[in-house]
Amino acid sequence: MKQLLFDFNNMFDFSIGKEHGVTGHDLSSVKTLQKKAHAHLKGILADKQSRIALSLEWANLPYQDTASISAIQKLGDEIAAKYENVVSLGIGGSYLGLKAAQDALCAPYYNDFPRVRKGRPRVYFEGNNLDPETLSVLLKSLDPKKTFVIVISKSGETTETKAAFMAAEQWLKKAVGRNYGRQIFAITDPKSGTLRKKVNAAQAADPLSYRNMPLLPGVGGRYSELNMGLLHLAVVGVKIREVMAGARAMHKRCGNADIYKNPAYMYAVLQTIQYLKKGKPISILMPFSEQLKSTADWYCQLLAESTGKKYSRVIARDENGKESWLQDKDLVVNVGRTPVPSRGTNDLHSIQQNNIEGENDKVVTFVRINDFKNDITVPGTGDLLSGKRYSRLLSLAQEATEWALVRQQRPNCAIVMPMLCAFSWGELIFFFEMATAFEGELLNINAFDQPGVEGYKNYMYYKLGKPGLPAQVEQNIKKNPLIKKARYII
Ligand code: PA5
Repeated sequence: MKQLLFDFNNMFDFSIGKEHGVTGHDLSSVKTLQKKAHAHLKGILADKQSRIALSLEWANLPYQDTASISAIQKLGDEIAAKYENVVSLGIGGSYLGLKAAQDALCAPYYNDFPRVRKGRPRVYFEGNNLDPETLSVLLKSLDPKKTFVIVISKSGETTETKAAFMAAEQWLKKAVGRNYGRQIFAITDPKSGTLRKKVNAAQAADPLSYRNMPLLPGVGGRYSELNMGLLHLAVVGVKIREVMAGARAMHKRCGNADIYKNPAYMYAVLQTIQYLKKGKPISILMPFSEQLKSTADWYCQLLAESTGKKYSRVIARDENGKESWLQDKDLVVNVGRTPVPSRGTNDLHSIQQNNIEGENDKVVTFVRINDFKNDITVPGTGDLLSGKRYSRLLSLAQEATEWALVRQQRPNCAIVMPMLCAFSWGELIFFFEMATAFEGELLNINAFDQPGVEGYKNYMYYKLGKPGLPAQVEQNIKKNPLIKKARYII
């Protein structure tokens, strides 16, 4: 199997000049930091206890035992054989990886045509918003007797997922009756959360209802596609072992200390230099593939939630040398590149104008696919386009975009996938996960928490009257209401 490649020529001074391109001196200046980051990460990844304690167990997901993978694959086949529709409920890390996988690994228009689905169920994603329109229309349109519901929430508490699940439960119960719980599968924490409690109670009454899968400890939401996303992959008929093989192949390459042999490290180092030394805080991910658009959305969450942090990290060690990470409240850093999902060639007629002539404050990362499963030759003879293959036009458009950016001294790089298949996609997501973890090390922040997300949640809980909110949280909201002067609303 050909491997995924990372082409970073256009990040350097020899392509785009000294002001915007990375120089040999820039690379030397981060060498010590890079070595330290590698040694630190390597130490954690080698020790299971540390991986779990610090939320880096995701790095071991490609090595899950084959028996449990086969069991999940079988369960997916069973669900697929029995139901016409699956509704997958979840948000953030409990949604974006699944959506990315479905769009990348199932044929385009998967939900629209039975022939394209090869007998598999349609899969709809809900619980990733509080938009009343989408959920209402979906529940009104699907036949509950032919629909299976998979609810995914690590915490089991997330408002969006919880509300959608409550609506879906009621909908199933009304149509199916007593055994409605047999059409539900829950993926959640093995011990804590409202969802876990509900699952345990339902299982005690009927073991066939609310079947469930515990999430592995030490795997955070956005790093968990190879854990919480597996049943979904099985339902849509993706061979999980191929995705895992791709992730394992990338895992091996990403253990190398030499950045010229480690694509994830090279990506993180170059992006960090561009960000901190060349004034490029914006990161545009532009796959030249309609099917990889959702993978760009997934990466944007991964980068934003992992590296967008207010405080620097302090590493504490106990008497056995085991680490824990704390926020350094004395060191506000407010770091993190701002990710923007995009896609070629659509956005060449949109944000590309700004990429080329707007502020030189961004790095564009392309994802290019070399071979396509389907291709079309433009018909006719008299036109410039006649006789040209679509795949050739697409790769030419990507090359042309690189050229146009380089001519304007705009840094860019390309991830090259031999083809869009389960193996390559496994490589791709593991590449991004490792690159993000390494970027977190270079920035010295905790890339595995998301404290900034709590603000809106607390405000909502307060307004909804949730009991047991910390007094400090309540006081903060009471003392600092939003200011809404009528004069300023016209
Ligand atoms: O990456 C993360 O941890 C988050 O994006 C979570 O996945 C998201 O908030 C959903 O959380 P939960 O699975 O607990 O419902």
